[in-house]
Amino acid sequence: MVKMAPDSFHLLTLYSDKLHSVIDWLAGYGTDPEGGITRLLYTRPWLQAQQALAAKMQQFGLEASFDPVGNLYGRLEGTNTDLKPVLTGSHIDTVKNAGKLDGAYGIVAGLLALAFLKSAYGTPKRTLEVVSLCEEEGSRFPLAYWGSGNVTGVMSLSDAEGKVDIDGVSLKDAMEAVGFGASSLAGCKREDLEAYIELHIEQGAVLERMGKQIGVVTGIVGQKRYTIRLEGTANHAGTTPMKWRYDALVGAAEMAVLVESMALQEGEPLVATVGRFEVKPGTPNVVPGEVDMTLDVRHTDEEKMNTFSADALARMKQIAEKRGLCITIQERLHVPPVGMNEGIMKGIEAVCESYELASMRIASGAGHDAQLFAECCKAAMIFVPSRSGISHNPQEYTAPEDLEAGFQTLVHLLYEYGYGGKADESL
Ligand code: HGY
Ligand code: MN
Ligand code: MN
Repeated sequence: MVKMAPDSFHLLTLYSDKLHSVIDWLAGYGTDPEGGITRLLYTRPWLQAQQALAAKMQQFGLEASFDPVGNLYGRLEGTNTDLKPVLTGSHIDTVKNAGKLDGAYGIVAGLLALAFLKSAYGTPKRTLEVVSLCEEEGSRFPLAYWGSGNVTGVMSLSDAEGKVDIDGVSLKDAMEAVGFGASSLAGCKREDLEAYIELHIEQGAVLERMGKQIGVVTGIVGQKRYTIRLEGTANHAGTTPMKWRYDALVGAAEMAVLVESMALQEGEPLVATVGRFEVKPGTPNVVPGEVDMTLDVRHTDEEKMNTFSADALARMKQIAEKRGLCITIQERLHVPPVGMNEGIMKGIEAVCESYELASMRIASGAGHDAQLFAECCKAAMIFVPSRSGISHNPQEYTAPEDLEAGFQTLVHLLYEYGYGGKADESL
């Protein structure tokens, strides 16, 4: 591990200071009057954020370009084009009423890391890139990882078929309305990458409880997501006796409680969540005739994840039958659990040792774009602590010194891969 020259360390401190103001600047795109930030795929705040980031990348001397689905790349071209680029970055979209760090932190830190390396060391041997991936959360349309899915070839335009948002707007129409998707999406696929390294908040409380600043991610859980529609009969709340009701809400509620009890019985690390629960017609004096709900199941073991999901859905169907409800289930996402690259994990640990940053190996309970990149190149993640483990919430917070520690770890790692000892070889 080559230690950075002292004068560049002073420059690094300047860029570390910039980190906070640029994160706050980006958080200004999508401020939600109900609290936090809401920046959903192909909405106006999303487009403004991507366009502002493109300008910021150019301002810092990176070559900015969009791919056909709206992933934004900032490129620092290397002298040796035989070497495969190393990519860092994260996703620009958010959940509803999100905090300002999930996704955004990895993009801003990656952008500033390349800007610092360019100003301190000039042109790298190996090309380094930062990407602002267009969508990861699955908050607007019933699919997730649309950005990294197109980069890695896991997704294509056919995956967008029939995907509409809550207002009935199709993903394809929304994409074209903001100027993307007109050409073939095949141009998104990258087959030239050496590695993808994502800096992200932990969104859990392990690092905080263990008193560590850096998490070296060993693997990312598998994830299955379903949309479930329950149809009963909307009816008069006063004239419909209890025994003659086909109440979709009560049926859905029984299913949600069942999922929780099955997950508690299965035990950790399995988690199961009913996150969306939309009742129609949703008026006080009408027996609910319809519920749209979601199911999100995660496990580090793919077979156990699949078995639990199949059992839960089978028992939900039994409840629907018992209650005379019609149930429609659609699987919307299946991503397998993946391991991160051991060589890069060791590289992260070497940086932490060199710069005396307390680190530990940790599995990720959250899904991340890195698990798709693991399909096509070496993938690794660096975590920083989340206060009280809170995320997907405006209260999401990481201490400034931890944000800077994560940033500097990424800088040192990219220095190694772009300029230093690892620049001339496969990682
Ligand atoms: O849901 C997740 O795990 C991630 O935040 N998209
Ligand atoms: Mn998230
Ligand atoms: Mn995220």
